[in-house]
Amino acid sequence: MQHIAVSNGMLNVYAQGKGTPLLFVHGFPLTHAMWQPQIDAFNKKYRVIVPDLRGFGESTVTNGTVSMEEMSDDLHGILHGVWVDKPVVFCGLSMGGYIAWQFFRKYRGQLRALILCDTRAAPDTPAAAAGRQTLAATVLAQGSQAASDFVLPKLMSAKTTERWPDLVANVQSMVLRNKPAGIAAALRGMAERPDCTELLPQIDVPTLLICGQDDQVTPPAEMQQMADAIPHAQFVQIPNAGHLSPLENPDAVNGAIERFLISLNAPSA
Ligand code: MLT
Repeated sequence: MQHIAVSNGMLNVYAQGKGTPLLFVHGFPLTHAMWQPQIDAFNKKYRVIVPDLRGFGESTVTNGTVSMEEMSDDLHGILHGVWVDKPVVFCGLSMGGYIAWQFFRKYRGQLRALILCDTRAAPDTPAAAAGRQTLAATVLAQGSQAASDFVLPKLMSAKTTERWPDLVANVQSMVLRNKPAGIAAALRGMAERPDCTELLPQIDVPTLLICGQDDQVTPPAEMQQMADAIPHAQFVQIPNAGHLSPLENPDAVNGAIERFLISLNAPSA
């Protein structure tokens, strides 16, 4: 891991390998470690770049609100910091997908393709946004355990929870390692994120959408609709997985990513 200076802070980043750059952007309230199965699968053939977003893991925590646009600016800074000058395949999960819309809007020239896992383009409803503000205040008052208690039951499918207790424990410890201020800032940033549905027909890079079959947070039907709105997008449903499909069924997700990369003729090492 290395620390890369960006505006207002230092971000912790894994960057290894050669070939087409693949940028993996984690969901809330996790860290770069959620992509371990993808790091292991792709770092021999591609240049794999996996940051801890601002406020998470070992990266700088910024108090207040961190918007999805600011997160996309951080990613732009990271790519510069690790000397990536070729367009990247941007793979984001959930909050990572919210950031992907902003990256597309601001840094289209740096994008080779998009992979959107378990995410949505619609903004929060007023009730959901208010719920995030309440959770942010609770996390600041009570600690990261409050975030874990709230999100953990929704992140993985019932089958995963029953079959893979070690995986559930690993995800929980990822959440608990994050500082309350970082979690709260991202919650506020997600609460005020813009509606990106009007962006979908404008997406002019190859796009793959991936969704766990049992995802209750961003269900497959909603992701299918997004795929229908994006020109030439592909949609893959992942069996035996909920919202954290890349961790719950890595073989299926890695297979879908590999086939997509081959279809792009993306040069490998
Ligand atoms: C995530 O996995 O990043 C979250 O489910 C995003 C959200 O809370 O909307």
